[in-house]
Amino acid sequence: MAFYRQVGSIPPKRHTQHRRPDGGLYAEELVGEEGFSSDSSLLYHRGIPSAIVDARPWTLPDQSLTPNAPLVPRHLRLHDLDFKEADPVTGRRLVLGNADVRISYAVSTEISPYYRNAIGDECVYVERGDATVETVFGALTVGRGDYVIIPRMTAHRWIPTGAEPLRTYAIEASSHIAPPARYLSRFGQFLEHAPYCERDLRGPVEPLLAEGSDVEVYVKHRGGGTIHVVPEHPFDVVGWDGCLYPYAFNIADFEPITGRVHQPPPVHQVFAGQNFVICNFVPRKVDYHPLAVPVPYYHSNVDSDEVMFYVDGDYEARKGSGIGKGSISLHPGGHSHGPQPGAVERSLGVEFFDETAVMVDTFRPLDLGEAGLASDDGRYAWSWSGRGPAA
Ligand SMILES: [Fe+2]
Repeated sequence: MAFYRQVGSIPPKRHTQHRRPDGGLYAEELVGEEGFSSDSSLLYHRGIPSAIVDARPWTLPDQSLTPNAPLVPRHLRLHDLDFKEADPVTGRRLVLGNADVRISYAVSTEISPYYRNAIGDECVYVERGDATVETVFGALTVGRGDYVIIPRMTAHRWIPTGAEPLRTYAIEASSHIAPPARYLSRFGQFLEHAPYCERDLRGPVEPLLAEGSDVEVYVKHRGGGTIHVVPEHPFDVVGWDGCLYPYAFNIADFEPITGRVHQPPPVHQVFAGQNFVICNFVPRKVDYHPLAVPVPYYHSNVDSDEVMFYVDGDYEARKGSGIGKGSISLHPGGHSHGPQPGAVERSLGVEFFDETAVMVDTFRPLDLGEAGLASDDGRYAWSWSGRGPAA
């Protein structure tokens, strides 16, 4: 995220003394990606960021994965899943995953513990509800339609704040998550053809300082889960600057690119991770050639699995399939997919699609998590032919 930001108190020169009011020194910490060769920020802590006083296991929720076999398209109904007194971190239920990315879902009313994901960046999409995301960089106020990008290792916690439960769709990478490189200049500025730009991104605006001692921080890492107990509160940063920090982007600020004939999914891309992309479909004017077919052509994603999360509106191409708000369709590589029967004809002459969906395309096959298995409708694969195997 090559977009410089400065918050709170920092010294005029990097790597020089920064003194507290009592004359002591703040502890300077560089948080940097790809060793020392990519984006980074410099944080100034009241305490020592590497100090811990205890470490004990954190048993993660069920992370088991089951291959999509026999290979079929699937319809997963996330709104049918049960959540009891869940929080947006430990309450996540794993829907789909592979070595590059894990997609989970949570419906929460509780405050999460302090948390760090040491495996990769997170992109948490807020389907419904409101929250404050408190982080070591400062707080973000988020709500419906926000993507919340949280860099690897950022200490943070989620606080649901709205009257309704907070529904979050978490895309956890094993890598970093960033805007697609083709949207950026060689120095990192958003280009004119990008469907969003720096003005649409919301980062922390002031430090978030909290008092506390022997605070638990839940760490998800490549070896599992660990709870670190830190002697001073993890939110002890008086100032920071750099290009690495959490931020929010609302899907309503994505300006759709439209054309006379059907535009390919890459025009809908919003973020990229290693071996996967995130796209979104937003309400938009549709194809305006006099003979245009507004719904997609049938397509076989030769190199990817496609996961569509239907958030709002009516999804024209899926009418008749049972898919609605809160549904996921999984269209795996190795099998073609496209509009349900009759959808092409119904779309002719339509000028506007009122639909909101978040799509993740992975370049390695996705397996089903426990929540994916629990929410599978078991019938979607037969929805194009109108009949399944004989009983
Ligand atoms: Fe597709």
